[in-house]
Amino acid sequence: MANEIKTIGVLTSGGDAPGMNAAIRAVVRTAIAKGIKVKGIKKGYQGLLNEEIIDMEARHVSDIIQRGGTVLGTARCHEFKTPEGQQKGAEICKKHGIDGIVVIGGDGSYRGAQALSRLGVNTIGLPGTIDLDIACTEYTIGFDTAVNTAMQAIDKVKDTSSSHERCSIIEVMGRNAGYIALWCGIANGAEDILLPEKYDYNEQNIINNIINNRKKGKTHHIIINAEGIGHSTSMARRIEAATGIETRATILGYMQRGGSPTAKDRYYASIMGSYAVEILLEGKTNRVVGYQHGEFVDFDIEDALNMEKGINEYQFEVAHVLAI
Ligand code: ADP
Ligand code: F6P
Repeated sequence: MANEIKTIGVLTSGGDAPGMNAAIRAVVRTAIAKGIKVKGIKKGYQGLLNEEIIDMEARHVSDIIQRGGTVLGTARCHEFKTPEGQQKGAEICKKHGIDGIVVIGGDGSYRGAQALSRLGVNTIGLPGTIDLDIACTEYTIGFDTAVNTAMQAIDKVKDTSSSHERCSIIEVMGRNAGYIALWCGIANGAEDILLPEKYDYNEQNIINNIINNRKKGKTHHIIINAEGIGHSTSMARRIEAATGIETRATILGYMQRGGSPTAKDRYYASIMGSYAVEILLEGKTNRVVGYQHGEFVDFDIEDALNMEKGINEYQFEVAHVLAI
């Protein structure tokens, strides 16, 4: 099987994530080291359909490991969700001699990879998302950088919040997943953590908590709110009215998705990029790479998409205990 793959493509899809460049670099250089040609596909599946395809040599990925974003660009492409779009994508791969593709993205991007695989293009997915919301893996490319960026910003807000004896609601990314919020909640010592998976929308509990903490002598009250719950500004107004304590909202936004990747993101993304090429050359297709129990592993895409991941109850409980 190994000698069937002569050219592989690499693309990034969905939201960008710090460390994607390290993964691209690893794919390109591992393939070239094994005598395989590499084509970079720009702007995700949209770029594939537009035939924005470039030859990539080892020097094309020089000096990118430390850069945030993705040098290939990324996009969301509705046409690729249709059978016609997928068929066109597979034909373009064949036209450009692309026998296999490494797709770096989240669950949505895996579905696109699955479609290409069904149409005869060997595909391997790498988990690229700051949200950590891919069930088959304990690690996703970009989460470590994003959570460190958010943590540093929250430390700064906490300084001014304590000085003014204010309450602060800080909104972090995660439309459907609360991992960034949970990690910041623990790492920043927050008093309340609102996660899409857990929040009961009972604001009175938060108000009671703020009042009790003030009585206990706490000078600040930090609430980490996940983007999926949102409405931080109106929540701040209601909390201030109910508690009489000045309350401010800070929405961190896209700063969390950019910036130079941490050592962990560079390291794991590099290993995963190399691993993806290795398994493509073994003849594997329709697989995604994950990290579990200290090992890099791979799963069938369908199995991976059917796995479920939830917030760890014990860790969520620890966050509450430590906020007394
Ligand atoms: P992520 O990959 O981060 O989950 P999205 O869900 O936005 O991000 O998906 C990225 C892209 O993957 C979409 O814009 C689309 O091109 C492709 N995609 C998503 N869902 C499907 C699907 N069901 N079938 C084929 N392609 C899909
Ligand atoms: O990439 C993940 C993520 O940043 C989520 O946390 C967020 O909800 C979403 O992407 C935002 O996507 P968009 O770039 O479409 O605004």
